[in-house]
Amino acid sequence: MILLLALACAGDDGTGTDALCDGAPVTTYDNFGAGFLTANCETCHAASAPDRHDAPADATFDDEEQVWAWADAILDTATGDAPTMPPQGGVEDDDRYRLEVWLRCGG
Ligand code: HEC
Repeated sequence: MILLLALACAGDDGTGTDALCDGAPVTTYDNFGAGFLTANCETCHAASAPDRHDAPADATFDDEEQVWAWADAILDTATGDAPTMPPQGGVEDDDRYRLEVWLRCGG
C-alpha cells in the first residue's frame, strides 16, 4: 500500500500538464498574454469597451490579476477542441496553443 501511494505521488499529477509544459516556449503575460487578449478578446471584455456585445460585466481581462482570476474560464472557452471564444472565431491554432501553455504552465 505504501509503495502504491509512493508511485502515485511520483507520477504525473493527473492534469496532463507535464506533457504540455515540458519543452514548451516560456510564455507570459508580457511576452504573449496581454497582446493576445487585446487583439482577440478586449473589444468585448475590456471594462472600457464601448460595445461589449453583451459580454458579462464582471468578465474583464484588463490586467494580469483579472486574467488569473478568470484563467479556468478562459481555458474552458478559448482552448481545447471546440472553443467558443471569441464568438467569431478566427484565432490561429498556434495562438490557442500558446494561450494554453501560458495559463497552464506559465505565470
Ligand atoms: C464579440 C465579442 C466577444 C469577444 C471578441 C470575446 N468574447 Fe468572451 N464573451 C462574449 C459574450 C457575449 C459572452 C457571454 C455569452 C457566452 O458566455 O457565450 C462571453 C463570455 C465569455 C466568458 C465566460 C464568462 C462567464 O461569466 O463565465 C469567458 C471566459 C470569455 N468570454 C472569454 C473570452 C476570451 C478569452 C476571448 C478572446 C480569446 C473572448 N472571450 C472574446 C463576447 C465576446
